Amino acid sequence: MTDNRPIGVYDSGIGGLTVFSKLYKLLPNENYLYFGDTANVPYGTKSREELLVITHKIMNFFQKKNVKAVVMACNTTSAIAYDTLKNYYDFKLYPLIQTACKSIAELNVSKIGSLSTEATANSHAYKNNILIHNNKMQIIEHGCPKKWVEIVENHTQNNPENFDVIKDNLSVLLEQNVERVILGCTHYPYLRDILIKIAGKDIFIDPSETFAKAISEDIVSSGIQADKLLHKPEFHVSSDPDKFYNSSSLFYKIDELPVLIDTDSFSG
Ligand code: DGL
Repeated sequence: MTDNRPIGVYDSGIGGLTVFSKLYKLLPNENYLYFGDTANVPYGTKSREELLVITHKIMNFFQKKNVKAVVMACNTTSAIAYDTLKNYYDFKLYPLIQTACKSIAELNVSKIGSLSTEATANSHAYKNNILIHNNKMQIIEHGCPKKWVEIVENHTQNNPENFDVIKDNLSVLLEQNVERVILGCTHYPYLRDILIKIAGKDIFIDPSETFAKAISEDIVSSGIQADKLLHKPEFHVSSDPDKFYNSSSLFYKIDELPVLIDTDSFSG
């Protein structure tokens, strides 16, 4: 059995490319549609109601594109909206946190920290999903200010004044002697050079690795792999295609400007 319909991947902006780039390596013959909701970034300070409206619009967009699956390459909406969305759509829906926590829970670690948006931290999605698989692990969740996502979207990680914003928030976890730190927002791996400078490379966990692996295994075992590459990965954004194009290159080099979409056309 094969299925050549596209796989949708979305995030509020370029963060989801950290997931997409890994999935693309594992399943290069799939037909991908990436949506970066740059008109609504950041998601991490929005209410549950706002995030549900936004994510339903995105799902409608993907439904009209006749996707076979949607990858929620966004921790915040996995935490807040997945439980509602999973009952509404007939394509496969892959949530980041719920999927990645299975392997995080298997790590030989007794105290772990997660850095995420405020909405993700307040939802306790990392804590709750790790505890399902390992009730001995102690999980400390820290919500970072929206500035972290803005630094990445604006590609200003090398401005010296942003170093302290990153160090101060990471220090909240380091001071509590966590053994590992989960990068619980898909934007944060773009800050890896700075994070490594502060705490070394071995402490960080990027859940996109294990997430992409789990998705590719499920696509294969469900028999819905594509057998024909119909088009190159297509990129869509809800504002500012140039900014998306210019900020994205660390994880995936897009070769054409993304298509600008009017999100009002997604509804219904
Ligand atoms: N990158 C997303 C996440 O993983 C959203 C970040 C934001 O827009 O605040 O949560």
